[in-house]
Amino acid sequence: VKKITVNHLKKMKKDGEKIACLTAYDYTSAKLVDAAGVDLVLVGDSLGMVINGYENTLYVTLDEIIYHTKAVKRGLKRAFLVADMPFGTYHISEEEAIKNCVRVIKESGAEAVKLEGGKNVASLIKKLVDRGINVMGHIGLMPQYVHSMGGYKIQGREGDERLIEDALALEEAGVFAIVLEGVVAEVSKKITETVKVPTIGIGAGKDCDGQILVFHDVFGMFDDFVPKFVKRYADVKSVILDGGKKYIEEVKNGIFPSKEHSFFRG
Ligand code: KIV
Ligand code: NA
Repeated sequence: VKKITVNHLKKMKKDGEKIACLTAYDYTSAKLVDAAGVDLVLVGDSLGMVINGYENTLYVTLDEIIYHTKAVKRGLKRAFLVADMPFGTYHISEEEAIKNCVRVIKESGAEAVKLEGGKNVASLIKKLVDRGINVMGHIGLMPQYVHSMGGYKIQGREGDERLIEDALALEEAGVFAIVLEGVVAEVSKKITETVKVPTIGIGAGKDCDGQILVFHDVFGMFDDFVPKFVKRYADVKSVILDGGKKYIEEVKNGIFPSKEHSFFRG
């Protein structure tokens, strides 16, 4: 298998080949999505919600992202690996932000970091890129801004100027790709046509250069709430519930373990 690099991702945009991305948070699921052929895996801070059950992404720590990214890394042969920078890890000063990003790259095996923001993080991103750290941008609906946004709000309804300026600032700073989350389709199309780096959409319409979804959403494992942009490609929740009920029934009835799952002296 040929390992995907930033160069492949840029070439895919040029060639008009869509980039298929998913999140993953552990070794086993990483191995599965890699085997399925996904191009990029993100260890998203969405893990705060789907792994840890928090109400938003803000509680996730740098140590948690490193822990999960190390596990995912061991499961990947082909996909490009990106680690999300949690809230607070790039907010205090550029010096501290650089230190934290360096730690993620050095300790976790991620090939890139992702951080939320546009013009406001462009100067930081340039410094990271200057140090050989691949950075993925993330604009539009930025979940780390949930409190200042006053909830999760689809972006770009009132116009596209600010989003396009942010995308251009990120490109200028040197990102290798930009996540567009919760952006009206017309605006993501325009951004995708405007920047040379690939755009990866989530709730951002069909014209992005690639798409990303959260593992637990795609496979029907998380239904505390299901956003409109989620499409389910499998119903793993039912599979686990059915299998779980069967297992419990067989344990209760003494059917499991049978002889074939037991050890004997003779
Ligand atoms: O944390 C996450 O899973 C993300 C993606 C949905 C883009 O940031
Ligand atoms: Na995220």
